[in-house]
Amino acid sequence: TAAFAVRLSGTKYGCGIGGCGACTVMISTYEPTSKKIMHYPANSCLLPICSLHSSAVTTVEGVGSTKTRVHPIQERLAKCHGSQCGFCTPGMVMSMYALLRNHPEPSMEQITAALDGNLCRCTGYRPIIDTYKSFTGVGRKTNRSPFSKVSTNFECSVSGSLTKIRFSELLCSHLSTKNLMHSGLCNPEEFQPVDPTQEFIFPPELMQKRTLVFRGERTTWISPTNLRELLELKAMYPKAPLIVGNTSVGLEMKRDGVHHPVFIHPTRIPDLHVVSNTNNGLVIGAACSLAQLRDILMKVVPELPEEKTKIFRALLQQLKTLAGEQIRSLASLGGHIVSRGSTWDLNPVLAVGNSVLSLASKDGTRQIPLNDQFLAGYENADLKPKEIIVSVFIPYSKKDDFVSAFRQAERRRNAVSVVNSGMRVLFKPNTDIIMDMNILYGGTGPITVSARKSCQRLIGRQWNEQMLDEACKLVLGEISLSPSAPGGKVEYRRTLLVSFLFKFYLEVLYGLNKMVSGFPLNGLRSPTGPHCIAATGYHILIKQDVDPVQPPQDPVGRPIMHQSGVKHATGEAVYCNDIRAVDEELFLAVVTSSRAHAKIVTIDVSEALKVPGVVDVVTAEDVPGKNGTDDEQAYAKDEVICVGQIVCAVVAESAVQAKQGVEKMKIEYEDLEPILTIEVISQLSFFCLKKIEQGNIEEGFKSADEIIEGEIHIGGQEHFYLETNSVLVVPRGEDNEMDVHVSTQDAARVQEFVALALDVQSSKIMCHTKRVGGAFGGKITKPAIFAVVAAVAANKTGRPIRFTLERDEDMLITGGRHPFFGKYKVGFTNDGRITAADIEPYINAGCTLDDSEMVIEYVVLKTDNAYKIPNLRIRGRACKTNLPSNTAFRGFGFPQSGLFTESWITTVATQTGLPQEKIREINMYKEVNLTPFKEELDATNLVKCWKECMEKSEYYSRKTAVEEFNKQNYWKKKGIAIIPMKFSVGFNATQYHQAAALVHIYTDGSVLVTHGGIELGQGIHTKMLQIASRELKVPLSYVHFCETSTITVPNAIVTAGSIGSDVNGKAVQNACQILRKRLEPIINKNPEGKWEDWITEAYDQSVSLSATGYFRGYMVNMNWDTGEGQAFPYFVFGAACSEVEIDCLTGDHKNIRTDIVMDACFSINPAVDIGQIEGAFVQGVGLYTMEEIKFSPEGEQYTLGPDTYKIPAVCDIPEQFRVYLLPNSRNPIAIYSAKGIGEAGLFLGCSVFFAIWDAVAAVRKERGLTGTFTLNSPLTIERIRMACADNFTEMVRLDDHNGLFWPWNL
Ligand SMILES: Cc1cc2nc3c(=O)[nH]c(=O)nc-3n(C[C@H](O)[C@H](O)[C@H](O)COP(=O)(O)OP(=O)(O)OC[C@H]3O[C@@H](n4cnc5c(N)ncnc54)[C@H](O)[C@@H]3O)c2cc1C
Ligand code: FES
Ligand code: FES
Repeated sequence: TAAFAVRLSGTKYGCGIGGCGACTVMISTYEPTSKKIMHYPANSCLLPICSLHSSAVTTVEGVGSTKTRVHPIQERLAKCHGSQCGFCTPGMVMSMYALLRNHPEPSMEQITAALDGNLCRCTGYRPIIDTYKSFTGVGRKTNRSPFSKVSTNFECSVSGSLTKIRFSELLCSHLSTKNLMHSGLCNPEEFQPVDPTQEFIFPPELMQKRTLVFRGERTTWISPTNLRELLELKAMYPKAPLIVGNTSVGLEMKRDGVHHPVFIHPTRIPDLHVVSNTNNGLVIGAACSLAQLRDILMKVVPELPEEKTKIFRALLQQLKTLAGEQIRSLASLGGHIVSRGSTWDLNPVLAVGNSVLSLASKDGTRQIPLNDQFLAGYENADLKPKEIIVSVFIPYSKKDDFVSAFRQAERRRNAVSVVNSGMRVLFKPNTDIIMDMNILYGGTGPITVSARKSCQRLIGRQWNEQMLDEACKLVLGEISLSPSAPGGKVEYRRTLLVSFLFKFYLEVLYGLNKMVSGFPLNGLRSPTGPHCIAATGYHILIKQDVDPVQPPQDPVGRPIMHQSGVKHATGEAVYCNDIRAVDEELFLAVVTSSRAHAKIVTIDVSEALKVPGVVDVVTAEDVPGKNGTDDEQAYAKDEVICVGQIVCAVVAESAVQAKQGVEKMKIEYEDLEPILTIEVISQLSFFCLKKIEQGNIEEGFKSADEIIEGEIHIGGQEHFYLETNSVLVVPRGEDNEMDVHVSTQDAARVQEFVALALDVQSSKIMCHTKRVGGAFGGKITKPAIFAVVAAVAANKTGRPIRFTLERDEDMLITGGRHPFFGKYKVGFTNDGRITAADIEPYINAGCTLDDSEMVIEYVVLKTDNAYKIPNLRIRGRACKTNLPSNTAFRGFGFPQSGLFTESWITTVATQTGLPQEKIREINMYKEVNLTPFKEELDATNLVKCWKECMEKSEYYSRKTAVEEFNKQNYWKKKGIAIIPMKFSVGFNATQYHQAAALVHIYTDGSVLVTHGGIELGQGIHTKMLQIASRELKVPLSYVHFCETSTITVPNAIVTAGSIGSDVNGKAVQNACQILRKRLEPIINKNPEGKWEDWITEAYDQSVSLSATGYFRGYMVNMNWDTGEGQAFPYFVFGAACSEVEIDCLTGDHKNIRTDIVMDACFSINPAVDIGQIEGAFVQGVGLYTMEEIKFSPEGEQYTLGPDTYKIPAVCDIPEQFRVYLLPNSRNPIAIYSAKGIGEAGLFLGCSVFFAIWDAVAAVRKERGLTGTFTLNSPLTIERIRMACADNFTEMVRLDDHNGLFWPWNL
């Protein structure tokens, strides 16, 4: 595909299946019918290179670069802190660039649509939207107004050059102004204007018209220019697919290994692009893209009488939400219809609308209906092999027609439907008697199905409640869904069948203008309607007091742009796999276990070695030293303990050949009994048990008025860093030296593992990490295993090895956040005081220990969250199962234990009948206190955050408004929740806090800073440069950071636990202070001199201009034998209030507003820290509301890409998102009184979880379901819907099976 054809590093590869947008490029083509140049965004990973002939492709390099001119999109994205790890950034730039080429002043709706196919795992999207808002008319007009207070100037480094940015005291005061375009963290006055005349023009030589034939080794690609030629080709090659968008065929080829010897590419044929308005409807050419179809319908609908456009409007509704803009721009109407996936959204609507397909072949033309029989692929209703679709006729609707479309997906944008539907009813004129009816559903099986029999039975009936009742029963009887249906969610999907029907019933009733009896009509539509406009009111109010006497050039405490921000945006930032080809390099692909637990009987390499280009196969036998660790093998030997474990590796001259070799490997297994879940406790094998206890638990329960017991499950989480694991190993050819370039959070661990595996000294292994495209804890332990796999192959072959995981491999092999199961027994008084809690948390560690012991320790140590529970016992266990080994993940156990605690706190509230916030307040730590493990804790700032959050969010008045809304609305409900947080920073071991730095000053005065921390997107280097700048008293532009390497800083600790900047900052500070001290005599002698003069003088006096800095680390001393000690250096406090709205019929929810107050103390870089808080919060929202990992009953992971695993996208963040840093707070033990803020915000995502809980509680109360209930995490659409129990969920349950089936998933 195009993504790989040219090695331009700016176009990133994040998934290969069109789901992440990292590979977005802009395609420009000449459209012969309209004689216009079309520009559209496209996923280059799905673009066959041959399809681009006669197109102009613009990559991010073509938009702008630091060497030529940085485009305003790139400049603004960098200045507004829109990139963190930067791996998604070029894709974000390209989506916006394509939009601006078509719409120089786009609306927010257009911007949202343009970004809905781009995923970002770091930023939480707010700064990106903020940036792009500046391109709207609105944004431009408000550019200046918010910056009323401009007090200070400072300098900010943009790729080495100095750009002046003025800086207010970060007070953005115009909160009431709607559509405010920025957060106060960047200054729009500095933005370069957009100048369309400077954009590339379409090369006229590409407007050519001749048949093209490309012949490759295995495939021929033919691109005809007229219909006759196309039909002849189709007659000659009836099995050849017609490739238009390649979004369906491309996936089949990639996923299922389907091979086509011939492709026909019909996009240049004018007949297939026709658009015409006839007397009865619209004719649309089959090669028109879905984006074009949307634009055509948007133009046509307002021009026609409303009664004629009901089908068009239903189509538009689906078109606005299906897929992402890149896919909508590529996918064609014809391809959509012919590939007819069961969840494709247009087909049910086109079918109920009686659309007609115009077919042509060499033998002539004919028309066939697009109906259920066509969609089922019946031979007599389908295309013949030699036929093609030329165009699609979509009729106008009639006066007595009612047409609706429904879809519900796991994410609000860029996600295929779980179930969709097209529904149509035609009434006898001026009556409510059904004359004709048609309902189709997608998502219930392999094809789109019709409720044909049910509809026929209803003809002649009146549109009333009896009819609805019968219709529901008929539909549930007719549309069968086996309890073990692929995709699971069976009850939910069946509920959607009738929920959609009910929505349709109500919509038609409205249409018929009928009186309604029995069914309250409020809240009929989905809470969002079909649209989603992100960022209608993003504001941040932050206030940080930079000392007024602080010199202007001192950058500490100011919102300095990310050191690599501009390079992220221009695509010049180099990640591991962007390192240019090394002479003689080989590519490695791994063979992984297909069994959860089995003996390896034989490994047959013979067929793989025959594949052209395959050089060798590497197994455990080839490891000269230690094969991983005692805990985790690099190459499986004798036995496999999970699906996805690496068994062996194929190395070849190209990545494709290595993969072909993997396909040919044969491994024979003998199955052993696996353990897969932690539900059946008796079956479990535990890795470890950790316990702490305070007070007297028995006495505590005795003094309680009431005791409740319960359980909760919290699902795991996939890291989904945008850059998959990657390593490049280069043997140096002498003394067994080896360079290892690796995307990791822990280079020292990689070095140690590789040295042990090769049986050489660590001093021979040089690890380098320039930057990492996101990690979140997922690149702490696993990269060392990947490095060993590659290093052993390099050692065996004597050649460099490149090993980059595909997204599905990365998701399969690397594990994620630990799934959690908790049991509680809690005693409390009637006035809400918790007297005792007996807590038993379990985590699913998977097949090896990895970091699980530490994770369960943190679960136990952090379970109290913000509450003083006088009598508390916590016994936590890490359980061993045959799932891929779980590992560290941002928050490290606290996101699970904290949610668990807040769940039983919520249950206590329900049981006592007291408001949730009261229970929280009553039991919250206050003033100076002791944790359950006897660490001193000053909770003053916890209470301050809570109060400030209450106030800033206007909690009580909004709670009243929510209650009022809920009284008025039956089918949608709002919920609000406020959650406090105590987050302990760092590790519970002193040695994990040590850090070192190496600072050189060169004779020209420039400074090179190195330290042990790794840039993961968290801006650590930016902060280090700020520190060096302050300590050496030189401008930021003098200070440079190159790479993290085991050569410069040995034995560095892992960059994790929120303390990377703290401890490395201390080391950098130490080194700089040593240097400054050495320079002092020289400076004192010549105080008026320049920095350069002092450095020259120092050199002349033989003063060393290089220094190492060291920080021993924060002292901690947790003792697990006594269950007491100082476990953590310090705490971060915070609180968040979130409000949501749920759709009771579908489980959809909308995040309305979130206010976060965080005690970040004195932030070294508020822009970076705010970015961390927002990004972590959105990751938490993903964890608690949408990200779900599914396994088969055999332990095979189903969720292996962005198609099945949904992380939050641009529409999933709160419409209003406000972050406040607690003013006047200081942390004396940390550098410049800062606090590590990288992880804490994630837990606050659970405020959304509890807001949904609040909304569900309101639904249940209204339906007469009083009493406590439990909600498990993630609170997905399915769980929300099923918790909103009503007649429909009851109908589905009545029809339940007897449990005699093999479930689809665990
Ligand atoms: C990441 C991603 C997300 C998606 N999300 C959604 C979603 O949310 N909702 C949704 O509805 N769909 C979704 N889709 C599916 C998408 O709508 C279809 O893949 C697309 O419409 C197929 O069109 P295409 O032009 O790419 O087909 P191609 O892959 O080019 O071709 C598909 C098939 O159609 C045949 N064909 C094409 N044109 C003709 C013709 N004129 N005559 C005869 N045969 C023809 C080809 O021979 C081939 O067999 C998604 C796809 C991807 C990759
Ligand atoms: S790499 Fe192309 S969309 Fe993800
Ligand atoms: S900055 Fe978007 S994925 Fe890292």
